[in-house]
Amino acid sequence: MMKRMITILAAALIILTSCSAKASDSRITENSDGSVNITRIDEDGKAIKFNQKYAGSKNVTQISLAKASRSNPITVDLSAYEGKDLEIQLSCEMFVEDKSSEKTQIVWMINELEENFPKLFDRKVENGKWFSVNKRLTLHLSGKRQLYVSGGTLNKDSSTIYIRNFKLRLAGDGLTANSPQPAVWTDVTGVKDVLTNYFDYFGFCVSYNDTFKEPLLQKGLPLHASVITMENEFKPDFIFGWSKPAKLTEFRGEDGNLYEVPADIPNFKQMDNILSDMKKLGLKLRGHTLVWHSQTPAWFFMKNFSRNNETQLVSPAEMSARQEWYIKSVLEHVAEWEKKNYNGEHIIIAWDVVNEAASDNATDANFLRDAGSSKWFAIYQNADFIVNSFRYANKYAPKDVKLVYNDYGCSSINKNKAICKIIDAIQAAPDARIDAAGMQTHIGINDSPADFERAVKNFLAKGINVQITEMDVANGASNYNAMKLKDCYFNYMTMFINNRKQPGKNGIEGVTLWGVRDEWTWLNSMHKGHTQYPLLFKGKNFECKPAYYGVIEAAKAANQADAK
Ligand code: GLA
Repeated sequence: MMKRMITILAAALIILTSCSAKASDSRITENSDGSVNITRIDEDGKAIKFNQKYAGSKNVTQISLAKASRSNPITVDLSAYEGKDLEIQLSCEMFVEDKSSEKTQIVWMINELEENFPKLFDRKVENGKWFSVNKRLTLHLSGKRQLYVSGGTLNKDSSTIYIRNFKLRLAGDGLTANSPQPAVWTDVTGVKDVLTNYFDYFGFCVSYNDTFKEPLLQKGLPLHASVITMENEFKPDFIFGWSKPAKLTEFRGEDGNLYEVPADIPNFKQMDNILSDMKKLGLKLRGHTLVWHSQTPAWFFMKNFSRNNETQLVSPAEMSARQEWYIKSVLEHVAEWEKKNYNGEHIIIAWDVVNEAASDNATDANFLRDAGSSKWFAIYQNADFIVNSFRYANKYAPKDVKLVYNDYGCSSINKNKAICKIIDAIQAAPDARIDAAGMQTHIGINDSPADFERAVKNFLAKGINVQITEMDVANGASNYNAMKLKDCYFNYMTMFINNRKQPGKNGIEGVTLWGVRDEWTWLNSMHKGHTQYPLLFKGKNFECKPAYYGVIEAAKAANQADAK
């Protein structure tokens, strides 16, 4: 059923417009569906008939009507699709005439220079017999390209390729009926709107310092999103700034002792600007993140806040005082801003209290990220810093602000178990609170939603909700395939919707994608040498990719199923 839906909807994406035929040319006739037959009778009586069907005549500027031969191949100019995702559907019958040999290697391909492109056809055929070519391929064209047929082993002068019933359909992503230009994100249905029946919120991460100033970003964000995550700006290193504290003051730890802590937090000013800008756009935020082994200044963990002597970690008691002070300072600052500027309501609706504390190689005994990469673990050697984080967050955060444990790789069986142990530990502490497991969802294009769903259910079994916090889909080292990405978003979104919160039942309560358009993805630094296309939009105009339609179609299919 779902497969059928995908097929119908994918077909709906391919929008055909007609090629304007020259009435004066008697060999060109127009069909009622707007497609065009081009018939040419060759000197020796063989018909060469092209039946052209494609999206936007501008996109196919040249189909050679001549007989194809090695020196004169049939070429289709694809330069209008430069930088675009393109679906090519080619079908035709072919016939090779070459008296000097029995077989010929026939290849339909694209002159893609930088990448090793899959061919549409590559076979040794028998000369003197008609054969069929039929192929659908989706690819990303990184430059000006041509589709052409070649007979690699053809004798240059004595051979000819004949083609009949030539059908070519080209569909670029986001192409609309009236224009070969892709739809842009400010002109289409908002993702948050189609998902509104299922989730409390939908959003993206945004880099306030790097990309937020782009007017088109600010224009489209409120249309598609309700809740934004700052890519970096609410992480400890950004909140502190990078210099060690200029002035210190004292804070009383839970053990009753006084400990030195920084006297002020320099970047609260920027935090306020972010909150005000989000308020202006009518957006709320997820706070990301209070406690993390990464992007936290080293001096935060060191005796006397020293930067130079990294061996001098503070004691657990001193670290706990610093941790409580930090969580208190941040949460109270936000509360103050909300009181002054937001009628005391909450602009930050959730906090990733702890990020990525589980081990990638978890065993029953050792399930936490170890001292080699985590100074938190180096100081405590156990899960106390995690439990404390949720105790302090519970103490200082409003009760209706969600407290989340966030991690990646959640569907790996051992890591899933490790995170469940972390959740157990938090739940065992009477003064701690955890409301949701944050599943980052940095997935690969071949990953299975079934494995992921199993992990979702394990978290839900703990009596908490799930938030999808950082979803993106890497193509990794493989060639990017826009339609495969679309299917991936469709399948995952459908699975998210199936596991949504329902009355009396906990579930997935919100979805955040880790970025808006492909060019801004962090994944290119993870997959050096292989460009990644992990998101719903692309290009400076925020063109809608098939993946965008995958999300929309998943939501619409669910809405239709509900309506029955
Ligand atoms: C993790 C973090 C995010 C971000 C990504 C990479 O998922 O939680 O904050 O740093 O890595 O961009």
